[in-house]
Amino acid sequence: MENEARKKRIFSGIQPSGELTLGSYMGAIKSWIGLQDEYECIYCIVDMHAITVRQVPADLRRRSLNQLAQYIACGLDPQKNIMFIQSHVPQHAELSWILGCYSMFGELSRMTQFKQKSQQHADNITAGLFTYPVLMAADILLYQADLVPVGDDQKQHVELCRNIAQRFNGIYSDTFVLPEAFIPQVGARIMSLSKPTAKMSKSDPDGCVYMMDKPEEILRKFKRAVTDSETAVRYDKENKPGISNLLTIYSAATGKTIAQAEEDFAGQGYGIFKPAVGEAVVELMRPIREEAERLIADKAYLESVYRDGAQRAQHLAQKTLSKVQRKIGFIAR
Ligand code: TYM
Repeated sequence: MENEARKKRIFSGIQPSGELTLGSYMGAIKSWIGLQDEYECIYCIVDMHAITVRQVPADLRRRSLNQLAQYIACGLDPQKNIMFIQSHVPQHAELSWILGCYSMFGELSRMTQFKQKSQQHADNITAGLFTYPVLMAADILLYQADLVPVGDDQKQHVELCRNIAQRFNGIYSDTFVLPEAFIPQVGARIMSLSKPTAKMSKSDPDGCVYMMDKPEEILRKFKRAVTDSETAVRYDKENKPGISNLLTIYSAATGKTIAQAEEDFAGQGYGIFKPAVGEAVVELMRPIREEAERLIADKAYLESVYRDGAQRAQHLAQKTLSKVQRKIGFIAR
């Protein structure tokens, strides 16, 4: 009965390891907004994931709060959705340990993000960096999420999560809902403006547009975006990665299709196209930045949101954790 009545559930999260970027917006947050009426949504600021690489404590604290303000400024309603900070709900760490005992060394070794990050942080390859996807699986499975809206780069982690859930269900009977990644059609992978063959990432200030960048800064970055030596504004990912990325961004920012965007700029050179993409992004981000700035100044309000969110999240998380503990043979507390 309870299951029949239940709305489908969504879980997603973003690391406060850097400022939010246009990539995190277009790959993830943008699709969250459209889902909040139809689904029961839970959005997390994953500070425990962030410490898998070294963080400056004061920056981590500031970015976690700013991120919450930005979620709300993007249009996520804290009444309708549950928004919380991962470390405030201890069930994540507890389930993560348990799931780690049902995750294989080999499958974790194959994770692309682990391979990349262990190259980037070769002097600090911690056990946490290695077991990162297990914590992510715990995040998702604790809430019995049906859908996980993420960018393309997180698909492998969601698949691993399904495998772990399936393995557990196979041993102990149905316990976890098997989640599916929900990846946007446009914007699933926004590339760097300075190196359009690499993903736009928080840690690359030149190629990255931050959601809180001022309009002048955004325009400057787009004017400088690396393109190619042709003049036609045409989508061709292989041969024109820079222009194709700009078309994707334009399309995600304006809601036009790539074909419409190509048409808008037919016969016009990059000198017109690049600032136009910048302008579209400025207009998209302006209201979000202004509202986020207002909310960041209201610490008491943000505190009330994350406290309430953690309480509601804990209630749901504990149900799953208790069930898991019982099934594996732990004595009830
Ligand atoms: P993170 O913090 O690296 O990125 C947050 C979200 O933004 C998407 N994204 C992008 N999408 C398109 N183009 C880009 N250049 C781009 N950069 C980032 C990511 O795909 C992601 O959806 N492990 C996750 C955080 C996480 C999580 C979870 C997500 C922890 N637990 C449970 C979903 C469910 C991560 O590092 O995302």
